[in-house]
Amino acid sequence: MNSTILFQGYAGFGADALVFPAIEGSAPQTGNAAVDEWASDLYASGEFSGKSLETALLYKPAGLEAKRVLLIGLGKGDTVNSAVLRRVAGAALRTLKAKSILKIGFVLAKEFQQAAYAQALLEGAVAADFEPDEHKSKKDAKHAESFTILAEGGSSDLAEAARNGAVIGEAQNFTRALVNEPGNLLTPTVLAARAKAMAEENGLDVDILDEDRMRQLGMGSLLAVAQGSAEPPAMIVLHYKPADAKPGTHLGLIGKGVTFDTGGISIKPSESMEKMKYDMAGGAAVIGAMMAIAKLQPKVEVTAVIPTVENMPGSRAVRPGDIVTSLAGKTIEVLNTDAEGRLILIDAITYAKRLGVTLMIDAATLTGAITVALGAVNVGLFSNDGGWQQQVLDSSKEVGEKMWPMPMDDEYKELLKNAFADMPNIGSRGAGSITAALFLKEWVEDTPWVHLDIAGTAWIDEAKPFLAKGPTGVGMRTFIEVARRLAN
Ligand code: BES
Ligand code: ZN
Ligand code: ZN
Repeated sequence: MNSTILFQGYAGFGADALVFPAIEGSAPQTGNAAVDEWASDLYASGEFSGKSLETALLYKPAGLEAKRVLLIGLGKGDTVNSAVLRRVAGAALRTLKAKSILKIGFVLAKEFQQAAYAQALLEGAVAADFEPDEHKSKKDAKHAESFTILAEGGSSDLAEAARNGAVIGEAQNFTRALVNEPGNLLTPTVLAARAKAMAEENGLDVDILDEDRMRQLGMGSLLAVAQGSAEPPAMIVLHYKPADAKPGTHLGLIGKGVTFDTGGISIKPSESMEKMKYDMAGGAAVIGAMMAIAKLQPKVEVTAVIPTVENMPGSRAVRPGDIVTSLAGKTIEVLNTDAEGRLILIDAITYAKRLGVTLMIDAATLTGAITVALGAVNVGLFSNDGGWQQQVLDSSKEVGEKMWPMPMDDEYKELLKNAFADMPNIGSRGAGSITAALFLKEWVEDTPWVHLDIAGTAWIDEAKPFLAKGPTGVGMRTFIEVARRLAN
């Protein structure tokens, strides 16, 4: 899809449809008599009131080159923000392409001409065009041809913002395409190769640690998870450092990259096990964020570490009761082989610290328990540092990724006692997402850190008006925003 912004009026723009966003309760004044009369009749009839994501389509309006007009509701005027416009652009695009209306103009009136809005519109439109049908011979849905913002009289900073929005939307779709790949086609080796190709295309440094190097270093925790699979593991390291990087700040992004999670010897039930292909969604979000960061060039050093393995049962698999030694030297009794994410993440966290990161964020589809707590609405956010937590929360809000802070009181550590090793890999009872986060924290130590449990939010079983069903790419936009804010 071609996505862009033009600083021209809408009347002469030959689209299949022009989209006009409309505030709840007051009919839009577009300046076109036919459209304005239709809109005010619609509002008066009560058939359309401008509620969030409500739509109405008008055919062949007089005085316009465009073939149709779509009104789409913004909701109440005082609630309009970037997150609202991101969804509105997405819902407009998905509504229209479902009717094979593929050449779209979005009218951005003077009152909405802000850089952040132009960015959000193209993020939303590009992400909305993604479909998870890569492997279907006959595609379910069409793709839009073009999405053009029409911002008559707008200033030139809107153009840069719009370009950035397209970059971020495309990075989100890159992330989602990775997450959508099944375990047979996206093994740890393939994930590493895709990350490497992306890095080389975008001028990032890349280092892929193979099994031998990880053994020499002593990543016993990660290797224990990997040993049950015929597929070799990898540690993917991507590095971005612009010449003018802000001194003293080095962001570390860490993402769980389990390409398929059977549970191992503590095997999962067969129902819905196929979804465990998305157990690398945290890693994919980190790789996608690095792609956007390489293109947007914020003035801050960023290192990404993605531990990637396949979790399989088998004659060589790690057993319940096995004791393993992590890169940091601490020992772990593996009580449940299905709690594998934390075992690979801790070796990545230690490695990232050795590479000199000063601030860390990890994203992981870590626990089913986070879905019990927060459903598919909020990411569970855990942190050891109030200031850093707030920075990440502020960024997530700006980019429309909902996150909710979770507690990490010391009392919960009682649940992580073990007689045979320094730590067990699971808690004794209750608070499963918190004990998982507390386990990671033992390896993070004093570095300011945020952990995002995205198990409930990285995949949606039902499409939303603005997003196809399947992988969401959650976390990626927050990572990018955090990097941009650190640079300023
Ligand atoms: N990958 C799963 C978590 C998960 C569950 C992600 C559902 C997405 C949807 C993780 O490795 C896991 O299996 N965690 C266990 C931990 C338990 C053994 C303490 C879980 O949540 O059941
Ligand atoms: Zn698991
Ligand atoms: Zn897992």
